[in-house]
Amino acid sequence: MIHRLSLLAFVATAAVGPAAFAQAPPPADKGASIAEKIDTCTACHGPNGNSASGQYPTLAGQNARYLYLQLKDFNEGRRHDPLMEPMAKALGRDDMLALADHFSKQKPTPNGFKADPAKVVLGKKKTDEVLCPMCHLGEFAGQNEIPRVAGQKYEYVKKQLADFKAKRRTNDAGNMTSVAGTLSDADIENLSQYIANLN
Ligand code: HEC
Ligand code: HEC
Repeated sequence: MIHRLSLLAFVATAAVGPAAFAQAPPPADKGASIAEKIDTCTACHGPNGNSASGQYPTLAGQNARYLYLQLKDFNEGRRHDPLMEPMAKALGRDDMLALADHFSKQKPTPNGFKADPAKVVLGKKKTDEVLCPMCHLGEFAGQNEIPRVAGQKYEYVKKQLADFKAKRRTNDAGNMTSVAGTLSDADIENLSQYIANLN
């Protein structure tokens, strides 16, 4: 069993250049309808939550429980991102539950990633060595608060593994920071190729 404890300590996230803010839509008003809020989300996360850019994770088909916990973590300041944090801070608990439920029910579409076959083989080998499937299940299907990562955007997966390794992302109760600490840059590259290729 994995228990999710809130960690008090966190390391400040590395600053992102101001250019990243230029195109950000303003968060939807607190009083806006869920449909209006969904439109704000899809401006970055893509139609139905299927992202078109490696900067934004795909939300479609992700576990509702995981989505809700991430929104809550951004909302309460346990997970940090200059674009996402203000969006989550504008949401109430009911919004977060409704949005998590909505995106979990959208169908994930293929991510269009062109993998390097040799790296995919090495990535698969690494997942068996370090027991990623023990938590994420076979082919990263995910369960409850453990995310589905199969077919996620390559750049996003790579950034998260590097963020866990460097302890820039610490909202995982140690589950990911401990395993990521053992990964080399080459392992992270190979694992990201393998995962993004699981469409
Ligand atoms: C301005 C762009 C932007 C908007 C608008 C936006 N997000 Fe995000 N979101 C991001 C970025 C960037 C990340 C990834 C942060 C990181 O790298 O850790 C993210 C991450 C997330 C995650 C974590 C996913 C995961 O796999 O861990 C969830 C959940 C999420 N967003 C939900 C939403 C919802 C719901 C809305 C609408 C209320 C929304 N986002 C609006 C940029 C945005
Ligand atoms: C001990 C259980 C456990 C193991 C082993 C584990 N993970 Fe995780 N993983 C988690 C949990 C729990 C989360 C969600 C953390 C959170 O709540 O923020 C996560 C999150 C992630 C994410 C971020 C997904 C997103 O949408 O932001 C990636 C990528 C990931 N894991 C990849 C891996 C890889 C690759 C391995 C093997 C090298 C691995 N995990 C091993 C439990 C585990």
